[in-house]
Amino acid sequence: MDLQLNRKLEIRGICKSYRNHAILKNMSFAVENGEFLSILGPSGCGKTTLLRILIGLLPPDAGSILKDGCDITGAKPSNRGMGIVFQNYALFEHMTVLRNVEYALKFQKIPKKEARERAEHMVEAVGLKEHASKMPRNLSGGQQQRVAIARTLALKPDIVLLDEPMSALDVATRLSMRAELKALQSQFGTTMIYVTHDQEEAFALSDRIMILNSGEISQLDTPENIVRHPANAYVQTFVLDNLQAKVDSLARFIGGK
Ligand SMILES: Nc1ncnc2c1ncn2[C@@H]1O[C@H](COP(=O)(O)OP(=O)(O)O)[C@@H](O)[C@H]1O
Ligand SMILES: [Mg+2]
Repeated sequence: MDLQLNRKLEIRGICKSYRNHAILKNMSFAVENGEFLSILGPSGCGKTTLLRILIGLLPPDAGSILKDGCDITGAKPSNRGMGIVFQNYALFEHMTVLRNVEYALKFQKIPKKEARERAEHMVEAVGLKEHASKMPRNLSGGQQQRVAIARTLALKPDIVLLDEPMSALDVATRLSMRAELKALQSQFGTTMIYVTHDQEEAFALSDRIMILNSGEISQLDTPENIVRHPANAYVQTFVLDNLQAKVDSLARFIGGK
């Protein structure tokens, strides 16, 4: 089998500096079609910078990005077929749930009737049918995040980038959102790149995990291979030791119910 055929995204030699301070250092990796890839690293290691470069909000200093084999390094964000979900949801506060989802479709010149139907379908797919006419302020954090996800998926991107989307949610909501996110991914066949600083979350969700340390890839592999063969001391201490601590505290949380 030609592995190249299945390659959704290829990143070649991406570099980015802010005022002579290197943030991303010659980063190269590929993402497979339909894959759930997590990018795991501590605050400040360059995760958001990388997502902004992938979606085209920020130009790299060097390197290129290929999608389905085509160079998209200089393409406008709206021409990349990618969607992004931010940490703070960024919903339109004066619009209902349904209008929030529908509004995004306006810019794609989709006929009104089709836009309404697609928005209704997506609102239902994220389990918010009964809340479609509510305003965002009357929803829980988890529900607001689902609106943000519905709004992104309604545009039918083939790659969705998620920047720490669960970090404002409580533990129980995070756990149920994870399952929903995975279900949505298999329903729509979307390639997902999921940024997190939470080791346990990355291991629970991902086909593969990219461990970032100061703008360099420490290891990119399946969760199983990372546990069995940590690439270096950083992976062992930052990832595996912390993972054990998180699993222990989660077990206490569930045990204490
Ligand atoms: N616009 C900017 N100007 C200068 N430095 C920045 C800018 N954006 C991010 N940085 C710096 O780049 C580094 C990586 O930031 P970021 O990609 O947001 O990290 P993460 O998302 O992993 O927390 C941080 O040290 C941050 O302070
Ligand atoms: Mg960030």
